Amino acid sequence: MSKKILILPGDGIGQEIMAEAVKVLNCLQHDHGLVVELNEALVGGTAYDETGSPLPEATLDLAREADAVLLGAVGGVKWESLDYSVRPERGLLGLRKELGLFANLRPAILYPQLADASTLKPEVVSGLDIMIVRELTGGIYFGQPRGVKELESGEKEGFNTLVYRESEVDRIVRVAMDIAMKRNKSVCSVDKANVLEVTELWRDVAIKVGGDYPDVELSHMYVDNAAMQLVKWPKQFDVMVTTNMFGDILSDCAAMLTGSIGMLPSASLDENGKGMYEPIHGSAPDIAGKGVANPLATILSIAMMLRYSLDEPAMAERIERAVDKVLDDGLRTQDIMSDGCKEVGTVEMGDAVVAAL
Ligand code: IPM
Ligand code: MG
Repeated sequence: MSKKILILPGDGIGQEIMAEAVKVLNCLQHDHGLVVELNEALVGGTAYDETGSPLPEATLDLAREADAVLLGAVGGVKWESLDYSVRPERGLLGLRKELGLFANLRPAILYPQLADASTLKPEVVSGLDIMIVRELTGGIYFGQPRGVKELESGEKEGFNTLVYRESEVDRIVRVAMDIAMKRNKSVCSVDKANVLEVTELWRDVAIKVGGDYPDVELSHMYVDNAAMQLVKWPKQFDVMVTTNMFGDILSDCAAMLTGSIGMLPSASLDENGKGMYEPIHGSAPDIAGKGVANPLATILSIAMMLRYSLDEPAMAERIERAVDKVLDDGLRTQDIMSDGCKEVGTVEMGDAVVAAL
């Protein structure tokens, strides 16, 4: 039976980069025997404009039916003044929550060809290979109560709630441990246990889960220190596991170590390995429509999809090798451009990957 993939281009550069990703999927279908059925739907601001909702029921239904979802990006200046409940971001958060995608895997890998693109010294980042495991359906992103209320004085007060249950921490730490077992067997759990009770609980649960993985070296770090260590000596990390918000912040930081956020894919998985795959960058309204966005993070997200949801590891490697080849050939979009390379646009980059496949 063919597997179903739902394509959600979303907003801004999401449209352009997804067109390249679809080319890659089509090539795998026609030339390499991948059997999949592709559907496309609306999400984010584009969906709001057409339907009044950033996550239309029809999209959610298709996402539930799909074996995997490939998402471009959501958001844009145009929708920033909308009420929170219909902002493009709610589409993305709604998908994560509704599909139970609690485990967000964000690899930060430095391609040796791009060592010059990082703002850090080559010796600090060369060979970098970190996996950030971010909790994705809990924490302060979803905690209740939340909102802005007016005090008696007339002053407004905003509030959000950082909340984690033991079971939520347990399952995400296990994901990190299982991944570490296939890597260098080291997990750093990031918290703020010196200040926040909820992350003290996080630490306790992490230690308990760690007991089930005697081969994995488990360490703990406060988030402020983790941010500093990431730019000071990132190669000390193998797998990092952390809360929704800390993971959001640290993964952007880690992305930049690799030169460009335009290179990094991500996977968001549920309990059964069903997943949504997306580049970790946003919709980049400033360059949208100009044909200069880097499609490689989205293309590499297909590789993660093949590996984690479609059980096609060989095909995943094929994509990764193709990306390696275009980088070897000196092709660069503007975000990763450096001396002696050839600057190409979104479409040219996508075509080059297809040719390399
Ligand atoms: C991310 C993004 C999202 C997040 C936004 C767009 C809601 O920054 O995936 O990292 O905060 O999770
Ligand atoms: Mg983010």
